[in-house]
Amino acid sequence: MHVPYFGGKEKEYLIECIDSTFVSSVGPFVTQFEEQIASYTKSQHGIAVVNGTAALHTALNILGVQKNDEVLTQGLTFVATANAISYCHALPVFIDVDIDTMGLSPTALSLFLDENAEMKNGKCYNKLTNRRISACIPMHTFGFPCRIIEICEICKQWGIPVIEDAAEAIGSTYKGQKMGTFGEIGVFSFNGNKVITAGGGGALVTNSKELGLKAKHLTTTAKAPHPYEFHHDALGYNYRMPNINAALLCAQLEQLDHILSNKRDLALKYKDFFEGSSNQFRWELENTKANFWLMCIELESQEERDHFLKQTNDNNVMTRPIWQLMFRLPMYASCQRDPQKNAVFLENKIVNLPSSYRKNG
Ligand SMILES: Cc1ncc(COP(=O)(O)O)c(C=O)c1O
Repeated sequence: MHVPYFGGKEKEYLIECIDSTFVSSVGPFVTQFEEQIASYTKSQHGIAVVNGTAALHTALNILGVQKNDEVLTQGLTFVATANAISYCHALPVFIDVDIDTMGLSPTALSLFLDENAEMKNGKCYNKLTNRRISACIPMHTFGFPCRIIEICEICKQWGIPVIEDAAEAIGSTYKGQKMGTFGEIGVFSFNGNKVITAGGGGALVTNSKELGLKAKHLTTTAKAPHPYEFHHDALGYNYRMPNINAALLCAQLEQLDHILSNKRDLALKYKDFFEGSSNQFRWELENTKANFWLMCIELESQEERDHFLKQTNDNNVMTRPIWQLMFRLPMYASCQRDPQKNAVFLENKIVNLPSSYRKNG
């Protein structure tokens, strides 16, 4: 569905990294990448980690999400979003998405909070379960920006910090501002299937110095800085991105704008191709720019979708349905959720198309 493109200085940087012998979690490429991602997203701080899931886990952790808390997120997402919440021994609550953005719906979020939440001592609680609602994770599905401004406004009213799961949305923007920079923390994935890749990798971005320092500390086993002593002042994680992955990623980040424009050309070709057909090619909304990570069409019905999936895959064109909704998975079946009407609609109709960089344009 999405093949990586290595058209820049990837090999040069990898050889430099190997020759330096600094291939593990200390080395100049990690710091260089952190500076580059902060600068690219116009954030104050960038922290490089081993993958997007670890970035989400760290973000929840440093925002103080505790055991038995609840975290609001969308039911239509990749399982890592919900898993990171579970790693904190907190419970995901699944809110519906908007049909047009495929991301968290501010209308559904507001409705859920009005019906289920109350403020106690400046904190938001679920009236039904008595649990604290300690974070909200909207996700930009396939790189299409969700209604992040409205979501942040609603969360602010309820004292809920926002972590943007921008794992799929590097380079996507709302009114020119990069996705991942609207909430308290933004999270990216650089898995092999993403727009740019470190083999495996992830990052957090934030404008808070305190959160930035905490993220770096926690992801480097919470080791107190010292030339030779081993003192760890908290339960930390070995989540720091290795230098060898960062070397690859520094080269990839240099290529990002070029990759995005190549992918946009492909998106325009699909748009033309599907013009006038009953299969609607998903395009970006006003004021937004999608990175077109995974391009998709909306079929007319589930039967049409299944027919399309079979025809294409039988003819060696890889197409995929959307993920199974979170409440269908055994570990999340009993979690609280709203009716998920739009998520089910999309689950039945959306198909991803081959979306890779095209070497010959
Ligand atoms: C929405 C979403 N969140 C989180 C992740 C997790 O990222 P990673 O695979 O780097 O752990 C991914 C991608 O894999 C994703 O698509």
